[in-house]
Amino acid sequence: MNILEIKNLNVVYETKKNAFGATQKVYAVNGINLEIKKGEILAIAGESGCGKSTLAKALMKLVDISSGEIILEGTNILNFKDKELKDFYKKIQMIFQNPYSSLNPKMKIGQILAEPLEINTKLTKKEIKKHILETLEKVGLDESCLNNYPHEFSGGQRQRIAIARALMLNPEIILADEPVSALDVSIQAQIINLLKQLKQDYNLTFLFISHDLGVIKYLSDRVAVMYLGEIVETGQTEEIFNDPKHPYTRALLSAVPELNSKTTDLIELTGELPSPENLPMGCKFHTRCPFVMSVCQTDIPNSTNFSNTHKCHCHLYK
Ligand SMILES: Nc1ncnc2c1ncn2[C@@H]1O[C@H](COP(=O)(O)OP(=O)(O)O)[C@@H](O)[C@H]1O
Ligand SMILES: [Mg+2]
Repeated sequence: MNILEIKNLNVVYETKKNAFGATQKVYAVNGINLEIKKGEILAIAGESGCGKSTLAKALMKLVDISSGEIILEGTNILNFKDKELKDFYKKIQMIFQNPYSSLNPKMKIGQILAEPLEINTKLTKKEIKKHILETLEKVGLDESCLNNYPHEFSGGQRQRIAIARALMLNPEIILADEPVSALDVSIQAQIINLLKQLKQDYNLTFLFISHDLGVIKYLSDRVAVMYLGEIVETGQTEEIFNDPKHPYTRALLSAVPELNSKTTDLIELTGELPSPENLPMGCKFHTRCPFVMSVCQTDIPNSTNFSNTHKCHCHLYK
C-alpha cells in the first residue's frame, strides 16, 4: 500500500535580487513521480545540489510547490488548511542533518519532548511524562537527560533526542535528511541501527535522504536516484546495487570501490553538476554522460521497466 504518492512535483525557487534587481529561477525539483509504501525505507540518493532536501521540504510543505500533487493516504496535502494541516503534521515528521541546530538551545530536553504533546494532544502531565520516558528508552536514552540543554550532549545523543521528538506524536512517516552526515563515523552506525530498529518496532515508513551509498545499501529497502531535480532510476536496493542501469547511478557506484564488485563497468563522473538555473535540454545528464547520443541532447527519455520494481529513464534502453 502506498502511504505517500508524489505526482509530477515541481519546485522552482527564485533567487534574491542581484545588483541590477534581477532574479533568476532555480529549477530544484522537476516533475518527480514517486510512491512511498507503508513500512518501507525509501532512500533518495544523489550528489549534493541535486534537489534532495528540496523534495523533503516540499513533502513537509516547508517550501512553495510550483505544481503537482502530494497524496498522503489518498488526500492531496496541498489543499490542507487549519485542522487538516495540524493533523497532517502529526502524521509526518522530519529529522535534519544537523542535530546542533534542529533543537532549540534554550529549551531543556524535557520541554523539547513535551511540547508536541502539549500542543497536539489532551494528555495529562503524568501521561506526557510516561510517554516521554517510554520514547527515551526506545532511542537509547533515559530520564537523566530531561533537565539538560541540547548543548550538554554529544552529536549522536542530540540526534537521538531529535529522533525521540520526531516519534512523540506517533507519526506515520519520517523524513530523514542526511541524519548521520554530521556525525562521527563511529556514531553513524549506532544511529542507523536505531532507525532500523524503530522501523521494525513501530512499522514506520522512512524517506531516507543521503549522499552516502554505503549507508543507503545497509539501511534501505528501495532506492530512488535523483539527478538535477529528477528521479532517473528506482529499484529495490539489490537491483540498484547489483544491476544499476542509469549511467549516473553507475557513476555514483563507481566512486565507492567497496560497493563495486564489477571493476569492468566503472564509469567516472566528470564535470560539474550543471546549475539548476539553466537546465540542460533533453536528458539532463547528457552533458556528463560517457554514452551520450544525439537523441539525448534533444529528447527527454521515457521510463524503461526492468522488473516490476526496477525502472530507469535513459535512451540507452530504447
Ligand atoms: N531557498 C532557495 N533559494 C534558491 N535556491 C535554492 C534554495 N534552496 C536550495 N536552492 C538550490 O536548489 C538546488 C537544490 O538544493 P537542495 O535541495 O538543497 O539539494 P541537495 O539537498 O540535494 O543538496 C541547489 O542548486 C540549491 O542551491
Ligand atoms: Mg540537502
